[in-house]
Amino acid sequence: MKNAVIIYQSKGGTTKQFGFEIASILNEQGLTTRVCSVNECSENDLQEADFIFFGCWTKGLMIFAQHPDREWTNFVSSVKIPETTRIGLFATYKIATGTMFSRMRRVIPGVKQNSVPELKSKSGQLSKEDKSFLSNYVGRL
Ligand SMILES: Cc1cc2nc3c(=O)[nH]c(=O)nc-3n(C[C@H](O)[C@H](O)[C@H](O)COP(=O)(O)O)c2cc1C
Repeated sequence: MKNAVIIYQSKGGTTKQFGFEIASILNEQGLTTRVCSVNECSENDLQEADFIFFGCWTKGLMIFAQHPDREWTNFVSSVKIPETTRIGLFATYKIATGTMFSRMRRVIPGVKQNSVPELKSKSGQLSKEDKSFLSNYVGRL
């Protein structure tokens, strides 16, 4: 059985909710999932993962200079990701994610490709399109 780890950083709970929402779609596709905050997750948790989704809230000046929070960056830049693991990103925001995803990608060791899935939400819920995209994405492996 394939498995996914969903790691989030959340101050107010929206990104946490989004992480659980992503997990529920993956569960529907038959994956086992573990959802944890950057504080709860250890590198060992990642070593057997087929998928890792990294999520963070959008921090910036509302219309520009969006970037992940330092706590997220510190955790993500320090972990070793197995070569075969597929990565996905998710973020919540209020107005615009702007440079958020490019800044997130820059932090993740070994992730150069622009094709990493990016899921975003204001409410912490997945849109119908994203649910369908996510199901196809994990269903393909
Ligand atoms: C200090 C601060 C800066 C923020 N900057 C942005 C921003 O630049 N763009 C945006 O769309 N939302 C911005 N937000 C809104 C949050 O990204 C949004 O409310 C997010 O869903 C919070 O996630 P959480 O509930 O998981 O903490 C900011 C919030 C805070 C507290």
